Amino acid sequence: MDRGLVIFVGALLTFSSSWLGLVLFPFWQLNDEQPVAAASAADEPYPRPLGGQALAGVRVYEQNGCMYCHSQQVRSEKFGNWWEGGVMRTGADIRRGWGTRRTVSRDYLFDRPTMLGTMRTGPDLANVGTRYSETWQHAHTFNPRALNGWSIMPSFAFLYGREKVLGGQKSDRALKLGREWTVDPGYRWRPSAAAWAAIVAGRGPAIAEAFAAQHGPVDVDSPEGRERLLAFWLTTEEDEYQIVPSAEADALVAYLMQLRKAETPLPEGKE
Ligand code: HEC
Repeated sequence: MDRGLVIFVGALLTFSSSWLGLVLFPFWQLNDEQPVAAASAADEPYPRPLGGQALAGVRVYEQNGCMYCHSQQVRSEKFGNWWEGGVMRTGADIRRGWGTRRTVSRDYLFDRPTMLGTMRTGPDLANVGTRYSETWQHAHTFNPRALNGWSIMPSFAFLYGREKVLGGQKSDRALKLGREWTVDPGYRWRPSAAAWAAIVAGRGPAIAEAFAAQHGPVDVDSPEGRERLLAFWLTTEEDEYQIVPSAEADALVAYLMQLRKAETPLPEGKE
């Protein structure tokens, strides 16, 4: 071990240089970063810490592993290639509408932890709050296939309750989805042939009437007519049951609605 000192100094240099480069210098550079002041009295400073339900929603996002499939970082116009008419263009993220500029460190000032993500099995969510309504988010979280038939995102139906409607009055928070999605939460439901025959025997005329009001008359006695009636009936809402968001689902959606990074202009985030 006559090279002990060399090895020691070499190891020290290796580790200290990476510590300097990856920890100390970034710390100096970013430590006193502040939100940008509001441009006018009507504006809020940006970014602002999350509060209330949205803050609780961060935990739900973490617990359910959304980060394994979704990033929260919009790439600069210099990255993200696609081909158009034989020419390679860049800036795919901004073109897809995932933000109006790239995200910068200031966007994450209050995020604990930052959930940048590494995988993009699904779209980037950095500014998803600007893209959809709360109603859309609930229906999509409950079962993504109810909105995008081709979606491979898992259903988070366990964040919702299937409850009996009491007093004939549905909650105004109940999801507005056809029974094909609500009878067996998390799956697309279809009655067996025997069950459908029984339903037609009992409630056929009422269903046919509702169908006729929208699509014209239907022949309940023909197999083709029954098939059309079934397709229609599956898209209508259940009367006796409703799907209601749990506190966790509400928190998660409140968080998603607050995800509005890459929107407010920042001096350092030009592209
Ligand atoms: C297995 C991967 C996977 C997981 C886990 C996952 N997603 Fe997704 N997500 C996707 C895919 C794929 C899409 C695109 C298809 C679609 O819209 O359903 C998507 C789409 C979305 C969208 C619509 C984005 C847009 O711009 O259209 C939102 C919002 C979303 N997911 C939220 C979540 C949340 C919240 C969680 C955690 C509770 C989650 N996802 C977990 C794969 C996933």
